[in-house]
Amino acid sequence: MNFENIIVTQQENTALITINRPTKLNALNIKTIEELHTAFDALETNENVKAIIITGSGEKAFVAGADISEFANFNIEEGTALARQGQKLLFDFVQNLGTPVIAAVNGFALGGGLELAMAAHFRVASSNAKMGLPEVSLGVIPGYGGTQRLPQLVGKGKAMEMIMTANMISAAEAKDWGLVNYVVEQAELLPLCEKLASRIAQNSSVAIGAAIKAINANYTNCVNGFGVEIEQFGISFGTADFKEGTNAFLEKRKPNFE
Ligand code: COA
Repeated sequence: MNFENIIVTQQENTALITINRPTKLNALNIKTIEELHTAFDALETNENVKAIIITGSGEKAFVAGADISEFANFNIEEGTALARQGQKLLFDFVQNLGTPVIAAVNGFALGGGLELAMAAHFRVASSNAKMGLPEVSLGVIPGYGGTQRLPQLVGKGKAMEMIMTANMISAAEAKDWGLVNYVVEQAELLPLCEKLASRIAQNSSVAIGAAIKAINANYTNCVNGFGVEIEQFGISFGTADFKEGTNAFLEKRKPNFE
């Protein structure tokens, strides 16, 4: 896959997407959002890809936000369309992807950058990372799901404080707050994410996709998450992976999920 603003590589069953606009601290312009959509869409249907890591190029930034230069002159309709399109193409799309997505937060994750990391299924940060939703300092609010996903991850009070103050928090604080699962030195960031991805790849991708659906259902308005869990649990019984996983256990061997 050839793109202007992102690089996609693959090692064994793990794909790595690198957002590559280092001179703009990997800010998300519309073109980058469209390219990310295309890449995630293709990787989800690639049977050889069992996990996806997303990171930013360079050592300074994961993503320093939506590209401010692109929307500075937008009016109400354009602003509404920007948020709606972005959420549909990228942020909701990533959250609901059937293939696990790990955000490797390698520096500033601000505004749309933190929102992208929060849309991923979980996050690992390097010790230099700084995270925040500074939108109110620009006279707007987070528009790529930040007002919804941040409270889900850190609780309402902390989310209110982060959004109202526009302050950045350190990687260590983000770990304390439950926003990231691990903090490691920058050189260890991708190796740790790759290790987690290869551990995930040993399990049933079909079952993992079903688990993502059931977990996300807990955070979807008017959907009974327990009901979705029952439904997805039942569906698992009809899959080849279920036969293989249970037979492998009973035959005292490792499963080989196709
Ligand atoms: N949109 C567009 N361009 C951005 C950007 C963004 N969100 N974040 C950084 N850039 C650009 C800068 O304009 C600059 O470009 P230039 O060299 O052509 O002038 C380049 O990236 C480097 O950024 P700079 O501000 O010079 O780096 P810094 O180390 O002094 O500061 C930050 C780093 C992250 C603190 C600062 O860039 C910043 O505050 N960015 C905006 C964060 C934000 O508000 N995000 C939410 C957007 S909704």
